[in-house]
Amino acid sequence: MLHGGVMQKIVFVFAWAASIAGVYAAEPQHWAYPIVVERPIAPGSDDTGPLQIPGSSRSYTGVQIDDLSNPPDWFPDSHAPAPNVVRAGAGKSVPACGACHLMSGMGHPESSHLAGLPAQYILRQIADFRSGARKEPTRMNGIVKDLTDDDARQAAEWFSALKPLQWTKVVETDTVAVTYLGKGRMRFVAAEGGSEPLGSRIIEVPQDPVNAARRDPRNGFVAYVPPGSIKRGEAIVRSGSRGVMSCVICHGAGLQGIGDAPPIAGISPLYAFRQLHGFQTGARAGVWSSQMLTVVANLSEEEMISIAAYLGTLAP
Ligand code: HEC
Ligand code: HEC
Repeated sequence: MLHGGVMQKIVFVFAWAASIAGVYAAEPQHWAYPIVVERPIAPGSDDTGPLQIPGSSRSYTGVQIDDLSNPPDWFPDSHAPAPNVVRAGAGKSVPACGACHLMSGMGHPESSHLAGLPAQYILRQIADFRSGARKEPTRMNGIVKDLTDDDARQAAEWFSALKPLQWTKVVETDTVAVTYLGKGRMRFVAAEGGSEPLGSRIIEVPQDPVNAARRDPRNGFVAYVPPGSIKRGEAIVRSGSRGVMSCVICHGAGLQGIGDAPPIAGISPLYAFRQLHGFQTGARAGVWSSQMLTVVANLSEEEMISIAAYLGTLAP
């Protein structure tokens, strides 16, 4: 028998998780929406001493690394001086964009890349997060509430000028290591080992978990995808299928974006899947998202996984 108080807490946590998941994803606990933190600590982030990452002469403590109002800038010479809102946020309610999207603008699979996106596109997403047309209640819907237009514009222009990096290694496999969601909703390989069937999922983990947890802006990810998915995705993206329009018509032959259709080459497969799924469920319904509605209407989850896998293999 569970003690009454413990039971109450468990029920509360489930109710909370289900209420967020209910709005965010079509199905609660969908694998593409990292929501519930299963363990509080990410590898390496609990250390108290001065911490470093390869190639940087700077050092920060674990507390500094996780300060969302002053996150680490490991390679300050690798980018133009960042606006205040990117470096330090604006007041308590607007955390620094650079904390989650990183000072390279490449982000983590649970957030997103911003490097090299057109400034107009970034501003349009901010407007959609603000109006609620694009739903992301765990982070962005709240963050944009008190974001001023001027800060939004400065952040958009700065991220837009960054050159995107090749960020994700895509690996086809039947089985994956057992993983868990750690602090910051990032997925890590479990220290105790073990493996499980991948099934119909994308599992994305950092190439170097310790440095990724330190917000290393140059440390990318590995995305595990089902066997055969890259080729299947390529066929749909290039030629379309069963009423699904080919993506190159709008996103360009290199998928590097044209006009209002943003670049999608080389983006995180987990993120890409979440967006396709979001267009389909209506979680992403901004003015320009309507162009994606006919595209995703007939896609199955397997097809979205394949498309996302293929996009991840491309040069940004
Ligand atoms: C606490 C973490 C966090 C912070 C801080 C943060 N973001 Fe985000 N951002 C996210 C997450 C999570 C997503 C959504 C990913 C999704 O839709 O699945 C996101 C998505 C975005 C997108 C959409 C990208 C795309 O390709 O459509 C934009 C634009 C964006 N953020 C801008 C900003 C700006 C500007 C700031 C600073 C004012 C900021 N973010 C601060 C976590 C964060
Ligand atoms: C008719 C034009 C059109 C076609 C065809 C199209 N797209 Fe899009 N796509 C857009 C537009 C416009 C946006 C921006 C939507 C917005 O602002 O919310 C977009 C956004 C996206 C995004 C979100 C990017 C981000 O950073 O969040 C992804 C992923 C995407 N498209 C993938 C695809 C794929 C895959 C295909 C082919 C199966 C495809 N698109 C076909 C016009 C199109």
